[in-house]
Formats: sequence, structure tokens, C-alpha cells
Amino acid sequence: MNKAIILAGGQGKRMKADIPKPLFKVLGEPMLEWVITACSAAGINDICVVKGFRGEMIDEYLGGRCRTVLQAERLGTGHAVMQAVPFLQEDDSDNTLVLCGDAPFIDPVTIEEALVIHKQQGNAVTVITAELDDPKGYGRVIRTASGISGIVEHKDASEEQRLIREVNSGAYWFRTADLIELLGKITNDNSQNEYYLTDTVSIAIAEGKNAGAYKSENPEIILGANDRKDLLALNDIARRAVIEKHLVNGVEFLCTDGVIIERSVEIGVGTQILPGTILRRGTKVGSNCVIGPNTVVECSMIGDNVTLNTVQVYDSSVESDVKVGPYVHIRPGSTIKSGAKIGDFVEIKNSTIGEKTAVAHLAYLGDSDIGRKVNIGCGTVTVNYDGVAKSRCVIGDNCFIGCNTNLIAPIKLGKAVYTAAGTTVTRDVPDYALAIERGQLKVNEGYTLRKLKKQK
Ligand code: UD1
Ligand code: CA
Repeated sequence: MNKAIILAGGQGKRMKADIPKPLFKVLGEPMLEWVITACSAAGINDICVVKGFRGEMIDEYLGGRCRTVLQAERLGTGHAVMQAVPFLQEDDSDNTLVLCGDAPFIDPVTIEEALVIHKQQGNAVTVITAELDDPKGYGRVIRTASGISGIVEHKDASEEQRLIREVNSGAYWFRTADLIELLGKITNDNSQNEYYLTDTVSIAIAEGKNAGAYKSENPEIILGANDRKDLLALNDIARRAVIEKHLVNGVEFLCTDGVIIERSVEIGVGTQILPGTILRRGTKVGSNCVIGPNTVVECSMIGDNVTLNTVQVYDSSVESDVKVGPYVHIRPGSTIKSGAKIGDFVEIKNSTIGEKTAVAHLAYLGDSDIGRKVNIGCGTVTVNYDGVAKSRCVIGDNCFIGCNTNLIAPIKLGKAVYTAAGTTVTRDVPDYALAIERGQLKVNEGYTLRKLKKQK
């Protein structure tokens, strides 16, 4: 079986953060996740991640999805792969892909095409390469008339070798049995006193084995992040690629400023995405919606024909033909049913808002089940928390909740109940009733004039 080893031991000191570099995120997903996704998409699921710096964080992130092995000391990429020898020995009949956990744009097509070449040429090792305008810092690929003779690290390269623009991506296919053998022959005799995985190429050739290179047309497969500036550049590339995919699919963007759409997000045809829109993982948006400006949707389902204007939605579902915003917060566990209207300055949490119900302005609805065609007046508050426990409010179909109503949960209002403005409802109300709770209004005529006179 083909396997993969992902090198993820690095710290990334220049990031100035106490987390392993492969856990830095590109478009909301750790770089390591991008690399794992590329492996799986290429059909490689037997993966071992080499962890090092704060390895426990890698384990915690993976949650048992992949094998991991610890490289206790960082003695180079060759040393890192050596830690995975027991994993290789379990089945050395096929090939092993080695990848860097901090180069997120390696793609399944490159992986598959490189494997074809690797097998065709009968190589012990096939290096995946690309040409860069600025190859500084990378290992240079030394080509000969018959193939390649080795990889020379930038620090060890001569002036002449440094002119070579074809560089090692850090991704390779090895015949697994050859990899085990070659690892045993690497030394740390170089300018950095590290065990270079790249030395496997020249060692293989010296042993009479074949070594080759597969050159990708896409130099982005090499890109990694050494500092925050690089990470921003990776995010920009990924962000644009995702937007381009949606443009091809018929999504409309008038201006992409501040638009961040994570890879897994789906958007229907004819939907318009306005500036400042952030669509995060697990989100699906239907057709002919207008999303934005300044809207965040995370892990939520949005139907067709929905308007979300300056809205934040988390772990919720908004059905079709719903208008939300501006300035609305829909918190986890909510469902807004079709035809509803949620207007400005409304917060909804863990609640269902029925079909064609209107919550037009300034309301808090938490832990509530609200029926169809209900009108929630301005300033309505579901008083769902008594300082200890949360309780639910149930409001039947066709209710009319007057402005500034407080609904003290747990409470149930039947069908077509009216509440008078300013009422604090403290017990259940049956169908078709009016709940009114109001002190008597006194009008003290001439009060202002008397007061002014006294002051003078
Ligand atoms: C390596 C290659 C270089 C290539 C470049 C591509 C070697 C000797 N050089 O260089 O030819 O052009 O990648 O980016 O392999 N890592 C560990 N443990 C270690 C050292 C590294 O896990 O002891 C991991 C890092 O976290 C990273 C990957 O291996 O994911 C590559 O390491 P890095 O130090 O970035 O290698 P480079 O020196 O850049
Ligand atoms: Ca690197």
C-alpha cells in the first residue's frame, strides 16, 4: 500500500508564536490540514505525521485521525523521516510520499502525476520540483544529461549552482524499501550539521538506483510560510483561488474587498457576495441570495433568495426567502423558517422562528419556539435566564407581541395571543387571549409650569 509521511516538526520561530508551524491557518484551516486533504484526495490514507515542537498540539489537533511519531530533537528532514521507519517497515511493498506539513498548496494531481513518472522510470526516489523566479533558500536540483544527480541546499551551493531556478519542493515519492535503506546511509556532514533527506538522491544514484524529478508547472506547490508576511501571502493566494472557483460557478462579486470564503463553503448560482463577507467552514448558501456587506456565516445552512445584510450567523439554519439585517446576531442552534423577516438589532439564540414571522427590530429571543405569522414588537425580550437555569418560551401561531414585552420563561403563549405594550408576562396565556399588565396612567396637568415657577 502507498503511504505518506508528513513532516511537521518545525516551530517557525519567525512566526513569534508558541505553536507548531504546520498548525498556522490558511483560509481557516491549518496548513497541515491542507496537506492531509491533498493526500486523501490522491487516495493516500495511510499517513504518519512527524511531530516535534509542541507535538502534543499536533496530536490534539489530529484527534487520532493519523498516526504520529515524535522527533524529539530537530536534526534535519532526513532525521525526521528516520523517526517513521517503524511505520515504513509495517509494509514496504509499495511507495511512500514525503511531504512538508507547512507547504499547503501541494495538490492531488501533482501527487498522482509524480507517482506515474516515479513508477514509469523505476525510481528509488522522485523529487517533485518547480521553477521559481527567486529560488533563494531552496535546495537546487542538479540535472545531468541522463536525469538528475542530486539536490544541493542553498547554504551548501556554489555561486554557479545558485543560478539554478529549479528547486526541490520538499515533496518526494520513494520506493518504500529503498527509502528505509537510504535513510540508513545519510550523514550530517554539511554546513548545517543536519541529516538532509535530500541526500537520498545522490546516495541512491551512487548505489546504482534510479532517481528522477517531476517538475510541476505550478510553483505555488512549493510555497510555505516562514513568517507572518508569508502566511498572509498564502492566504491571499488561497482566497483568490476560492473566489475564482465561485465566479466560474456563477456567483457574483462586485468587489472582493474583505471577502474570505473557506474552501468547503458551497454557494448557489446567482448569489451575490458583497464586501466584508466571511463564509466559514461548513456553510452552504443557496441560489439568488445577497450576502453582505459585513456578514459572517459559520457552519450554517442558508436557503435560496435570502438576504443577509450585516449579520453574523453561527451553527444555524436560515431557510429560503428570509430577509435578515442589518445588525443581527443569530447564535447557535437557531432556525429561521422561510418567509421570516429579522430586522435591525435583533439577537436570536437557540430558537426557532416560524414561517412568515416578523421580528422587525430591537429584540432578544433566546431558547424560544415561535410559531408562524407572529409579530414580535420592538423591544421584546425573552427572559430566559434566572441566573441559574435557562428556560424556554413557546409562542403560538399568529401571536402579536406588543412592544417592550418581557416574557418570563418558562412560559407558553397559545395561538393568536396579544400582549399589550410594556407587559411583563409571568404565566401561560391561553389561545386568543390578551395579556395586559399595566399600572394606571396618571396625568398631572400643568406640572411643568408649576415646577418652573417654583424654581424661579
Ligand atoms: C527543505 C529541503 C529543500 C527544499 C525545501 C522546500 C532539506 C535538507 N531541504 O529545506 O531542499 O527546497 O525544504 O521547502 O530537506 N522538519 C522536521 N524536522 C526537522 C527539520 C524539518 O520535521 O528536523 C520539517 C519542517 O517542519 C518542515 C519540513 O520538515 O515541515 C521542511 O523543513 P525546513 O526546515 O523548512 O527545510 P528547508 O531547510 O526549508
Ligand atoms: Ca522551509
